[in-house]
This record gives sequence, C-alpha cells and structure tokens, in this order.
Amino acid sequence: MTNQETSFTPGRHPAESYEDILDSDAVGSPDFYREGVNPPEMLESYDTSRYYDPEFFQKEVDYVWPRVWQWAAREEEIPETGDHVVFDVAGYSFLIVRASNNEIKAFYNSCLHRGRQLVECDGAGAKAFRCPFHGMAWNLDGSLKVNPFAWDAPQWEESDNSLPEVRVSTWGGFIFINMDHNAPSLEEVLGPIPEHFSRYALEDRYKAVHVSKKIRANWKATTEAFMETHHVVGTHPQGLPMTADINTQYDHPSEYVGRQICAHGVQSPHVEESLSPQEIFDAFFGSGQHDVDNDSRLLVPEGMSARAYAAQIMREQLSAVTGVDYSDAGDAEFTDSLMYNVAPSMSFWGGFYQNTVYRFRPNGLDPESSIMDIVILRPVPKDGPRPKPVPIMHLDFDEPVTLAGETMGEGLAVVFEQDAINLPWVQKGLRASGTGKVEFAHYQEMRLRLHHRLIDRLIAEGEAAAAS
Ligand code: FES
Ligand SMILES: [Fe+2]
Repeated sequence: MTNQETSFTPGRHPAESYEDILDSDAVGSPDFYREGVNPPEMLESYDTSRYYDPEFFQKEVDYVWPRVWQWAAREEEIPETGDHVVFDVAGYSFLIVRASNNEIKAFYNSCLHRGRQLVECDGAGAKAFRCPFHGMAWNLDGSLKVNPFAWDAPQWEESDNSLPEVRVSTWGGFIFINMDHNAPSLEEVLGPIPEHFSRYALEDRYKAVHVSKKIRANWKATTEAFMETHHVVGTHPQGLPMTADINTQYDHPSEYVGRQICAHGVQSPHVEESLSPQEIFDAFFGSGQHDVDNDSRLLVPEGMSARAYAAQIMREQLSAVTGVDYSDAGDAEFTDSLMYNVAPSMSFWGGFYQNTVYRFRPNGLDPESSIMDIVILRPVPKDGPRPKPVPIMHLDFDEPVTLAGETMGEGLAVVFEQDAINLPWVQKGLRASGTGKVEFAHYQEMRLRLHHRLIDRLIAEGEAAAAS
C-alpha cells in the first residue's frame, strides 16, 4: 500500500508511529518516551514580517528576552572563585561570576557611573571588577569596592551602590539567568526535564564541543529550523536511509517545553525501496549523525535489526569509555534524537551516548541575523582527570560549520552546515513572500506555532503592563 492509497487522520502520517518502533525494540526504553499531551488542533498562519520587521523585533527585545530563562554558561567553565563569563543577548550583556565556592551570581554588565560595559570578556580568578573608564570597582558579590571620585558624588553617599543582579538558577551543569524577578522559576519552566534527564546526568558530563555560529536569518527562523523533521527530505537527504523522519513524535509537557523524538536506525518512509539492515546500519554510522571510525565494516548479525545492532555497538563503545554497564539502557536511548525545546531559545537532547544542546539568540540588535550555539556534552572517561570544557569556536557568517568537523564529527558538521546554508535563503524568501504568511504543518510543526503563541503572550503582557 502506498501513502497515496491510504486515508489517515489529519496530523498523522500512516507510516508506523514512533511508539510502534519502540514496541519492536530489542531493549525497551522508559515510559517517558511514549507520547504525552498535545494541544487541540491549531492551524493559524503567521505574518512573514515577524522575521524582519524592526518594530516587532523591538517588542521581543523589550518584552520577550527580559522575561525568559536562558543558559548563559556551564558551571564547569567557572570552577574557581573569581572566574567569570560574559553573556550577551539581544543588546543586553550580563556578567556571570563564581562569587564564592558555592555561590554563582549574575549582574547587568554595565557600570553604575556612566554606563560603560563593565567587563569585556570571560576571565579567571578576578578579585574585583574595575571599570576601565574612571576606575570604579565592585567586589565579586556585587558590592561597591572603590570609587576614586567618591568626594565628587554626594548623591551616592547614602545609597546602595551594588551592581544590580539578575536571577540565577542551575540545572544539568548549566547556569541559567532571567532578568524578570517575577517570572516562573526555572524548575517550573523545565517541567519534566530534570526527572527525565536524571538517567543522563548532564551535570556530570563535560563540554566537548562548543560552536557559536553567526547566521544571516532572524533568530526565530534559525530556532525553528531545529524544531521539526519535515526538512530532512529536502535539506539532509543523506540521512533518509537511517532516519524515521515522518514517524517523529511530538508532544508538549508544558507551555514552555515541547518535545520531538525521532528514531534512527530505521529507514525513512520517503525511501521507497526496502533497505537491508546492513544498508541502514552503514548509513547510521557512515553518512548521518553518527561518525564512528570504521564501524561501517561491522556486519549486522543475521536476524538482528540495524537499530538494535547500532544500539548494541554504541553501548559497548560507551562502556569502554566510562566503565558503566548499559545493558539495561533502551535502544532508543542510544540511537534516537530525544530533543526537548525550552521556549524560546534552548534545546537539550537526552540519551546516554552524548548530548547536544542548542541555544539560539539574536545577533546583537539585528532582526535579520542570529547566533546559534551548538554544544556537545560527553561522558567523562573512567581513566584520567575530568576533561576541561573546550573554549568556544566562533564561526562568522561565511565560515562553515565543517571547520568544527574534527571535534563534533564530520557527518554531524555537514548536517549543521546544510542548515546554515539554507537559512539565509529562508530569510531572503520571507521578505520576498507573495502572501505575507508562513504556514506550519499541523502535527510535525505544531511546536513552531506554540513558539509564536508564547512570544505573542509575552509581548501582549509586556505591552499591557507598560500601558498601565
Ligand atoms: S563609566 Fe565606569 S567608572 Fe565611569
Ligand atoms: Fe536540520
């Protein structure tokens, strides 16, 4: 039976579901891999101008970015007192500092005198932060340390001249900040993520890859390019022999969290001929998102699926590194993309093997360019010290992600570069639209629609508060 001959419920392709794939796995995965709740049907379209209009962008700067949690750094990047990181987003700048052994603080990175950016770049072991303009300095806890012209600033004599703080919270080894002291807590926003990820313990992993790539496209266009698998057939066709793209499962544990789970080691329904387990297995390790030297020479045992064998090989590889026995870990927990988006700008991948993390943000105050951070966390090897987190590899607009191929894996770097090449054309086409609308698919792209709904809610609330 071909797809054309089959009638099906809107929102679901007649191919086997992700849960069908789970049911046939050799080693099962936890119940949270099953589909959860989704909102009622949504089919509204959105204006293309949201992706380039300076006025809409300014509303995001005023009412969205100041009210959401964003990860600003990894705890492992500031292990010692005085270590600090500068995090910029949408024209804002923050200073994140380990103020003492067990306290991390985050400040607006702006001098209280004439507003100069207080700290220009990341650093280690600072004793205080001294403004280069006129020499005022603040202690690590934000209290004022020195004012060289205190005699000439009587207005400050009675006031608290500490650096204003933003909220800080941590999860999974990440340091999150939020400018809004009334926003829901990080715990509320993350919803089920800490519980589901307790198996993968991101806090114990180290940052093995960090690419920060500039892209000529609005930050939402860039974010949304990583929120669905409809684009695999057009953008990453090399992945089809090992990616169950149409079968991807989506759900929404909360307003802030949307999930996408895509099976790998299974051929796409887009591939018409039936591939052998060996062909699927070779594609899994050779041309898709998993580069493992020489594994394409391994032969899938008679009667075993490509997916089960890929999971078995990955269990053995990881065990050799960590010394942990993964025999009870599900096939899906090794082979699949288990991806949680935390609105509006972050994604965390679950699973045992390695964990990809994204962060999307505007490039300064430009509505038509963005920065995509790609982080890969890996388990700490059983022998030797914990590896140090890698420094950030900054890639400018015209520098390809394949420059990071050696660390992230050549196949994965090609996948990201395919997305990066596509996005400036998305931006150009949005401006050239004859309808002035973007349309989102019902099921596979529902998370994009919810992304816009959340942004609209934050803007509406911000405007209402500003008007009152
Ligand atoms: S602007 Fe910082 S001390 Fe004057
Ligand atoms: Fe992609």
